[in-house]
Amino acid sequence: MSDQNHLQNLVELLRLAYSAELAAAYAYRGHWHSVSDADEREQILKIENEEWHHRELVGQMLKQLETNPSRIRELRATIVGRVLGALCHFTGWFAPMYGAGRLESRNIREYETAARYARDAGHDEFVDCFLMMAEVEWQHENYFRSRVLSHRLGKRLRIWPEPPPREMIRKSFAEYVLHAVPSRQNFPTLGDAVEVPHDAVVISQHAD
Ligand SMILES: [Fe+2]
Ligand SMILES: [Fe+2]
Repeated sequence: MSDQNHLQNLVELLRLAYSAELAAAYAYRGHWHSVSDADEREQILKIENEEWHHRELVGQMLKQLETNPSRIRELRATIVGRVLGALCHFTGWFAPMYGAGRLESRNIREYETAARYARDAGHDEFVDCFLMMAEVEWQHENYFRSRVLSHRLGKRLRIWPEPPPREMIRKSFAEYVLHAVPSRQNFPTLGDAVEVPHDAVVISQHAD
């Protein structure tokens, strides 16, 4: 795969992530308003603010790449986020916690993928920021997992697979770099070594 293709992948993922963060932030705004426990309100508000921060960071990268967000996705993300946020007031405590945890587990992989795309496209300056965002998404997943497991339904239901430990985010990226070095130089046999977590993109599409 050429550097140009890697760059296209990166730009597309960034545009998806930018709008997905908008939907997530609005959904969490409704979510923390809907819970009565003071600690849960505070934690989910903090998560909302972190999603806004991610959006800002991704927006800066898009600018640097001279790309604009998709206007239609932005509109859809606003609607989806606000509707989900409003639904939290009617669905009870468990469903929003479960939905958030499941989504966050995919967000981790999305930013891990973005780090690989950035590296392969020659934008190493973005890598640390993507890995940091993946780590923050890991914390979000961990929080919602703990809430779900504290509920009697969470103890009975089979929940989404647990992500690897947080330190694996940087370790697996380092390993990827070690094995994918030739791809940057367009070695034809290794050029497609980028692993694209299938559902990372799918989820982004769903989330936008
Ligand atoms: Fe985020
Ligand atoms: Fe998150």
